[in-house]
Order: sequence, then structure tokens, then C-alpha cells
Amino acid sequence: MSVLAVDRLTKSFGGFTAVDDVSIVVDQGEMRGLIGSNGAGKSTLLHLVYGRITPDHGSTRFGDTDVTHLPVTERARLGMGLVFQVTSVFDGLTVEENLLLGALPKEPGRSAPVDRSEVGRVLQVMELGGVRHRPAGNLSHGEKQWLEIGMVLLTKPTLLLLDEPTSGMTQAESRRTADLLHQLRAENAVEAVIVVEHNIEFIKLVSDRVTVMHRGSVLADGTIEEVQDDKAVQDSYLGRLH
Ligand SMILES: Nc1ncnc2c1ncn2[C@@H]1O[C@H](COP(=O)(O)OP(=O)(O)OP(=O)(O)O)[C@@H](O)[C@H]1O
Ligand SMILES: [Mg+2]
Repeated sequence: MSVLAVDRLTKSFGGFTAVDDVSIVVDQGEMRGLIGSNGAGKSTLLHLVYGRITPDHGSTRFGDTDVTHLPVTERARLGMGLVFQVTSVFDGLTVEENLLLGALPKEPGRSAPVDRSEVGRVLQVMELGGVRHRPAGNLSHGEKQWLEIGMVLLTKPTLLLLDEPTSGMTQAESRRTADLLHQLRAENAVEAVIVVEHNIEFIKLVSDRVTVMHRGSVLADGTIEEVQDDKAVQDSYLGRLH
């Protein structure tokens, strides 16, 4: 069964339709790239999937659950994790302390103890063991982003949503981020990934399939080669990158 099935999602702000009748299916084990020019509706779509905003029409199925009307907390509990563009790392705390905070149960009334072995596992998988006692404020931009991903991993997502994870990274850091995502999948730490990026080199490294959005709609969907060969994509978006 697919991990995520978005069916005809639509969201308008005032008279402006930011996401217009978008349907996407993401399979078990898949890493999906989501690309498109500025304002295409990529972040809005991620936020609809995660439940930060509610759609005007359409539905979202996560595994075998219709989550269309469920709040973020419930979607997170079911296994969705979103890595925001805006960093939520506390600079004054160490890497480990940030992760311990990330591991705290978010639901009021739940007081399960923080699982320190999970924190250790995430430090290892994100290769942050060497900087675990360093204040997060002293990290490189890339390390901070990896810490951010690590904090979300501590919520044990099965579907990991990432919005421009390599923005501001060096090329080496971007490549390293691609390796990390492949590693997460290889270790079955996540079942599926959707990643929004403008960085096409990164998209090529991580995506099994790519969805191209343009003015709120899906313009094309397929392998990177297929969408690069697509005339409509060349005219509207990728053409400008070559
Ligand atoms: N809360 C909001 N209120 C009004 N308009 C919004 C809101 N959120 C998004 N929009 C508009 O919807 C459109 C799509 O925005 P969105 O952030 O999803 O684009 P994007 O594809 O992520 O772009 P970028 O690549 O620049 O991040 C934009 O025109 C944006 O101004
Ligand atoms: Mg965006």
C-alpha cells in the first residue's frame, strides 16, 4: 500500500489558489522530489499534508488512515515528521540537549521518559556524535540542519517531509545530506520521504520520482529524466536552469 495518497487537494488564500487540485501518491520506500518555481505551492502542499493548514477540498490518506480532518499532533503521532525551513534549534544548548528536547513527548499529559538510546542512535545516524557536547550555536549551517532533521527523527516518523533542507548549504554538505537520506531509507528508519528543493543536483541524487508544480498545479510527474524531457516543464521551469 502507498504511504501517502493526496487526492485533489485545493487551498486558496483569499481569491488566490495556492494549491489547485493536486493529487500525489507516494509509495513505500520512495523518495519523492517536489520542485517548481517560487510560489508554485510546494510549501503549502507540504503544510496541507502535515495538517498545518486545512484544505478547501480534497483528501489526504496516510497509510490506511484518512487524515484529512486530523490535527498536526494526531498526524505526528501516526508517523508524519516535517523539517521546517525555519530552524527551531536552540543555539545556547548543546547538540545533545537539543535532541533530548526534541525527544520530549509533545502531547500534554503524556510523560513517557526520554529514550536516551534513541538520542544516541540519532547522533550516530546523523553523524553528530563528535559534536554532541558543543553548543548548537557553534555548528556549521549544515550541521545545524542535520541536527534539525535529527530532532524530527526522534519523533520516529515513517513519512519524512523536508522543505528546502539544503538551502544555504555548501555543495559538500548537500551531498552529505543526500547520503544521509539514502542511509535513513536503507536502515528503514523512514518509509518514505518527500523533499522540496530548488537544488536540482540534490533532487537528482535523492529522488526516485519527481513532481513538478507550477502555479499551484502538478505540471509533471515521473523520473527526473522524464520530467526534464517534458515540454511543459522545459517551457515553464527547468528550461531556465539549463
Ligand atoms: N498563508 C498564506 N496567505 C496568503 N498567501 C499565501 C499563504 N501561504 C502561501 N501563500 C501564497 O501561495 C503561493 C504559494 O506559496 P508557497 O509558499 O507554497 O510556494 P513555494 O512553491 O513553496 O515557493 P518557494 O519556492 O518560494 O518556497 C504564493 O504565492 C504565496 O504567496
Ligand atoms: Mg516554499
